[in-house]
Amino acid sequence: MLANVATKQDMPEAEAMQSTKPDLMTVEDAKALDTKSMAELFKDHINPGQFHFMKLLGFHKVKIETAEGMYYTDQNGRKILDFFGGFGSLAHGHNHPRVIAARQRFQDEDRHEIAIAFLSQYATALAKNLAACSPGDLDMVFLGSTGSEAMEAAVKVAERASGRKNCKVVYAENSFHGKTKGVLSLTDSELYQGDFQLVGNRVKVPFGDLQALSNAIKSDPDIGVVVLETVQGGGGIISAPESYWKGVRELCDQHNVLWVADEVQCGYGRTGKFYAFEHYGVVPDVTALAKSLGAGKAAVGAMIAKRDVYMKAYGSPKTAMIHAQATFGGIGEASVTAIEGLNVLYDEDLIENSARVGAHLIARLKQIQEKYPKIIKDVRGQGLMVGLEFQDFSQTMPMVLRPVLAMLDEKLKGSLSGFIGAQLLRDYDILVAFTEYNRNVIRLEPPLVCTKENVDTFCDALDDLLSKGIVSIVNGFIKSQAG
Ligand SMILES: Cc1ncc(COP(=O)(O)O)c(C=O)c1O
Repeated sequence: MLANVATKQDMPEAEAMQSTKPDLMTVEDAKALDTKSMAELFKDHINPGQFHFMKLLGFHKVKIETAEGMYYTDQNGRKILDFFGGFGSLAHGHNHPRVIAARQRFQDEDRHEIAIAFLSQYATALAKNLAACSPGDLDMVFLGSTGSEAMEAAVKVAERASGRKNCKVVYAENSFHGKTKGVLSLTDSELYQGDFQLVGNRVKVPFGDLQALSNAIKSDPDIGVVVLETVQGGGGIISAPESYWKGVRELCDQHNVLWVADEVQCGYGRTGKFYAFEHYGVVPDVTALAKSLGAGKAAVGAMIAKRDVYMKAYGSPKTAMIHAQATFGGIGEASVTAIEGLNVLYDEDLIENSARVGAHLIARLKQIQEKYPKIIKDVRGQGLMVGLEFQDFSQTMPMVLRPVLAMLDEKLKGSLSGFIGAQLLRDYDILVAFTEYNRNVIRLEPPLVCTKENVDTFCDALDDLLSKGIVSIVNGFIKSQAG
């Protein structure tokens, strides 16, 4: 106990009824924190280990004051072009004025938040909108707050509807479906899975390998659900051909297996269609959205299931309440935000923009790859979900750099993306995203409001940086560590 806090025994009875206000910061105090104090608080109360990585990349020196459209503005008035986009959470850009206005109206009108006791006009309208955006009879919606929660609901509805008593779930190598315990079991990462006790009824197959999926399903009648990201985001922007997805649909139909498409990162227009699976002319049995569904202002996740799948799982009065929403599912202002966000997505043709500007980004990156084939290994993706893979330098780093690199953190050895990302931020005011599963891949998921001019700014900066050559890039990074 803190020495200066009086105990209840020391106080007269009436005073003891009042709780002593702890040493709380106010919102104004929070706004005024500088980078040094934020670093101390982050290390003391959030994640000291993570701070180490932020420092390595120079991100700890930045305090974001405001954000608008494609840009952050830091404490020094520097504008930072956002090609990270919160891993696909910012389709509308930062602080879209229509989204802000809808939220403001909601507050000005003293609207209500909790959507549990009474029917909510906002939750029901959002569910209707999501059904309208979804092909086939993907009509039944569960609202939550995160992608993990949406995916938990997706796996649960499919498992119940599969009718298997000991239902097993197939998932893919290199998958990422979230970190809550159920979907963590389907997230193919030793790092994230750690030593946790995971859900046991699962079978892992290589992503994009129809034969492997077919062998698994045919050899085990307990398999009732297949869970796949349509484009693997955390895996480094990996997609599979149309023939694979058509095959997945057929296999699942033949064996009465339910297909769950995780569209948390690749959905919501990111690849140039509302859902990435729409590129392949197939419809899954269940899908999930989150990230940009909250229009960059709210935490909203959604599971969307085919009506018959939903009814099999939760359709009777006996089973209906197994699944009803959590406390904040369909909450008022978040739902209003998501409703306005969906309207903006279509009114401003952001899906079409994603396809058009994304094609320009990929074309320009391929030109840069041709110029620096020894540095860039691959450019891939669709729409504004693009992976830029650098050659692996762990074996081929120039001799002059090896002694200094040997002193660097294990995560950075031989990985160009760390060096390049750090310098894009420091010297070119551009933010990109790294990829946990493949340290050679930079993920580019800018807001869908991105223009061709934004793409040119990014590509010119990358070109300029790469023109300096590997030795200079690595030396520049090492100098920044000393500074
Ligand atoms: C494909 C995919 N599924 C699920 C999730 C989990 O979403 P959340 O972080 O909102 O729980 C993510 C998050 O990155 C994701 O990329």
